[in-house]
Amino acid sequence: MDEYVEQHSSPSSELTRWIREETATRCPAWADIGSSKSQGGFLAMLVSLQRPASILEIGTFAGHGAVSMAERLPQGGRLVTVDNSAADPVALDIAQRAFAHSTVAGRISLEIADAGEYLKSTTESYDLIFVDADKPNYLNYLDVICDRQLMKPSGVMIFDNTLWGGRVLEPDLPESEDFESEPDPEAWVRLMQDDWARHVRAFNNEVLTRPGFEVVLAPIADGMTLIRVQRD
Ligand SMILES: C[S@@+](CC[C@H](N)C(=O)[O-])C[C@H]1O[C@@H](n2cnc3c(N)ncnc32)[C@H](O)[C@@H]1O
Repeated sequence: MDEYVEQHSSPSSELTRWIREETATRCPAWADIGSSKSQGGFLAMLVSLQRPASILEIGTFAGHGAVSMAERLPQGGRLVTVDNSAADPVALDIAQRAFAHSTVAGRISLEIADAGEYLKSTTESYDLIFVDADKPNYLNYLDVICDRQLMKPSGVMIFDNTLWGGRVLEPDLPESEDFESEPDPEAWVRLMQDDWARHVRAFNNEVLTRPGFEVVLAPIADGMTLIRVQRD
């Protein structure tokens, strides 16, 4: 299905294609965590429709999402993208090369920082916030964004991977376990995936209880939740 979706969507820009190819070649072990071609197309379309002056992305990786959005920013628009380099420093090198390309040069600022620290310290507010890092902290990030009014009144938030490979549907997710100290690598990954599924599911349930939130969980890629705050 993914292939059909990609084949029946408009081609992506040369620069985003370059990022996908560089990522597959230079950091193959991590390539899957970057946004896909169809996600990039969706983000680009959203920016074209919303015409945000300011975008914040949490989780840069190789810059695919950042470039997809920055290429469509209106004149004078700016994008800040934050990454703590936890995944792969090679990916950030690809991102920095892409950000220097003439089609986006001067529009993107890369902040090497912890997402939570950045959200607590930034004094700006944004029209579009794309959160795509550190799923167990999604609710914490949401709270800081709301408490510090980091999203402009007409803004939109997007949280990625909110289907978490379908694990959010699993009825028998075990209760919280300490996966960090698990010595077996395979068991560690399974326990970590379960743990993150619990966090993502808690996030999906919680956003529906927030007053004024309009929520759409779009089944694009691994699930992208769009949130707008209704004001009357
Ligand atoms: C899923 S990837 C981001 C993909 C990117 N948004 C895209 O569209 O291709 C997640 C990134 O978040 C970074 N990351 C993980 N935890 C973080 C944290 N606490 N603060 C900042 N960045 C973090 C990782 O280094 C990784 O590069």
